[in-house]
Amino acid sequence: MDIHQVGVIGAGTMGNGIAHVFARRGYSVVWCDVEQRFLDRGLATITKNLEREVAKSKITADDKEKALKNIQPVIEPRRLADCDFMVEAATEKFEIKAEIFRDLDRLARPEVVVASNTSSISITKLAALTRRPEQVIGMHFFNPVPVMKLIEVIRGLATSQETFTTVRDLAIKLEKTPVEVRDAPGFVSNRVLMPLLNEAMYAVMEGVATPEAIDEVFKLGMAHPMGPLTLADFIGLDVCLDIMRVMQDGLGDPKYRPCPLLIKLVDAGWLGRKSGRGFYKY
Ligand code: CAA
Repeated sequence: MDIHQVGVIGAGTMGNGIAHVFARRGYSVVWCDVEQRFLDRGLATITKNLEREVAKSKITADDKEKALKNIQPVIEPRRLADCDFMVEAATEKFEIKAEIFRDLDRLARPEVVVASNTSSISITKLAALTRRPEQVIGMHFFNPVPVMKLIEVIRGLATSQETFTTVRDLAIKLEKTPVEVRDAPGFVSNRVLMPLLNEAMYAVMEGVATPEAIDEVFKLGMAHPMGPLTLADFIGLDVCLDIMRVMQDGLGDPKYRPCPLLIKLVDAGWLGRKSGRGFYKY
């Protein structure tokens, strides 16, 4: 199916990155969130990130203007009805995503593929809420979306080969590299990454080393661009906790127990970079 108009649901960090990359590749983007102020804030971020690309001569000022014109921010979900493809990037909570999937299923034409940018929730479970389980799939982007090359493409139990091919081809058109994985809690990226971040948090909690020291170890010893605690703050500590809980529930192994210090910081509202404080102050 030809895809011209894409619906992006959610104006948080991931939603704005996803709207950005589709608009930059010439897709018309209908961008939906529940409140105008979230979209206004997201649009300011997209503008800043496009300007960054202009400053680095990756795109021209004209490309930036065209990309911004391709984005229609909307607060009424019914405006998504004409989209040829949809990607949901709402909060990482099953109940919230479930409600959105039911709505999108009602709104979208029967042939339309509905993808989720979930970082850990079961695609099979989301698909089962719809009348189109063959056309539900995971399309997991990485932050910062305009920079990171990977898209993890997750097949639910019922996902058809045609749906998989659609998303794989779309990822390539976005100049990303799709990697296919099966549906399991945390998929591959977070199944492996989150226990590393969680263990770094235990090391802080137990006084093995400071966050600065742990991050230096990983930056200088393992050539990671960011140490695990800087990365956790960058991802959002609430997101890290939600993902650990999905893996703890779904896999049942105590090794996925979220670090008590992580829970404490989230309870305090210290969510990382976005709230001004996490393991570090911003
Ligand atoms: N939009 C557009 N461009 C951006 C950008 C953005 N939001 N953020 C950074 N850039 C560009 C910069 O312009 C710069 O471009 P050039 O290479 O052309 O100069 C490049 O990215 C590098 O940026 P900086 O020089 O400012 O900073 P840096 O070298 O410290 O890199 C970083 C920043 C790319 C974020 C790097 O630190 C990094 O790769 N960190 C790890 C990120 C990571 O692991 N992300 C995955 C998180 S997990 C996830 O997202 C999924 C999940 O489910 C939790």
